[in-house]
Amino acid sequence: AGTFAFTGAHQAGIVTPAQDRLYLAAFDVTAKDRDDLVALLQRWTTVAARLTQGLSAGPYGPASGPYDAPPDDTGEAADLPPAGLTITFGFGRTLFRTAAGVDRFGLADRLPAGLIELPHFPADNLDPARSDGDLVVQACADDPQVAVHAIRNLSRTAFGAATIRWTQLGFGRTSSTSTAQRTPRNLFGFKDGTANIKAEDATAVDEHVWVPASAAVDDPASAWLVGGSYLVARRIRMRIETWDRTSLREQENLVGRTKAEGAPLSGGAEFTEPDFDVAGRGGAPLIPLDSHVRLAHPDQNAGVQMLRRGYNFTDGNDALGRLDAGLFFLAFVQDPRTHYVPMQNTLSRDDGLMEYLEHTGSGLFAVPPGIPDGSLVVGRDGT
Ligand code: HEM
Repeated sequence: AGTFAFTGAHQAGIVTPAQDRLYLAAFDVTAKDRDDLVALLQRWTTVAARLTQGLSAGPYGPASGPYDAPPDDTGEAADLPPAGLTITFGFGRTLFRTAAGVDRFGLADRLPAGLIELPHFPADNLDPARSDGDLVVQACADDPQVAVHAIRNLSRTAFGAATIRWTQLGFGRTSSTSTAQRTPRNLFGFKDGTANIKAEDATAVDEHVWVPASAAVDDPASAWLVGGSYLVARRIRMRIETWDRTSLREQENLVGRTKAEGAPLSGGAEFTEPDFDVAGRGGAPLIPLDSHVRLAHPDQNAGVQMLRRGYNFTDGNDALGRLDAGLFFLAFVQDPRTHYVPMQNTLSRDDGLMEYLEHTGSGLFAVPPGIPDGSLVVGRDGT
């Protein structure tokens, strides 16, 4: 893909087709007051609008402008195509109210009810240095250098107003968000994204991804978020070495799908709906009770679906020589209280895959709706 529109009803990087690469950064805001915060978001919006259209971060670019000043773009993407870059902004709970209850920017009455503190899930082993943050920026592109360039230049533009808290590089998308895309594979070697919400399914996107106008009726604080979404980020380490010594039978039973084709164990092909009632010899269901696909299926979750948009990661190795690798789970949902927390509780408790997984980082962010043409600042709500 070349470029995606930066302005529109929704931010790009959600239902736009998932690119191959990710660089995501969470920031702590150091701005002193609301004006400084607004100025930061204004600068970010202007820079993001340029970068996503294949322009340099500033009007001069990396190699012109005042000779005695630093260039207004760092330069490493100068000769590269835009590579489908999308930049998606989100706000963490602490932007509205710190953990100690301080309202730094006069935003406490805008804290959407869904922007909760996520509960501790069974087996969570979260590193605070890889969790949370006041702001998040998700940069996706088909070229890692383009995604890194975007975050680097936004971070540079944030000087004095926000500092990076944690970042995550991702390679190899682990879901497809369009029926036009081939289903990719995660580091367990299984197809991932088969039953994901696809952009073409407008009804499912409306029902499960965008914050509906009705949310603001119950919760006026979330009026500014209508047409936006919530982003759940979970850094999930995989116990790759143990997995690689597990039999193919066990691997397929844990997932509930075949490894080759991604077909449900109840039969059919990749896109056949799983049938959870079909039993094999001995009476046990062909899709085991503790399999991931059974426990994550809408039938087991009050009909809820999510738009998954995660990436594989590998961040070197630990002292025992094991890869620090896994799946950086990203999902966009219309309300984490209904569309994420119950499912994660079930999975963390009962999913057989959990034996091979460890959640090491976490974040929840409110993702404002799109930036209207001519508007200068992401998240603006008219006040
Ligand atoms: C489906 C793997 C974590 C929610 C799947 C599938 C695989 C998979 C292979 C089947 C293909 C597909 O439909 O996409 C993994 C791995 C994970 C992980 C390896 C962790 C490293 C999660 C988490 C959640 C989740 C944390 C949500 C809390 C889902 C959902 C489906 C799914 C909703 C579709 C179920 C359906 O409708 O059939 N996952 N997943 N997954 N997963 Fe995960």
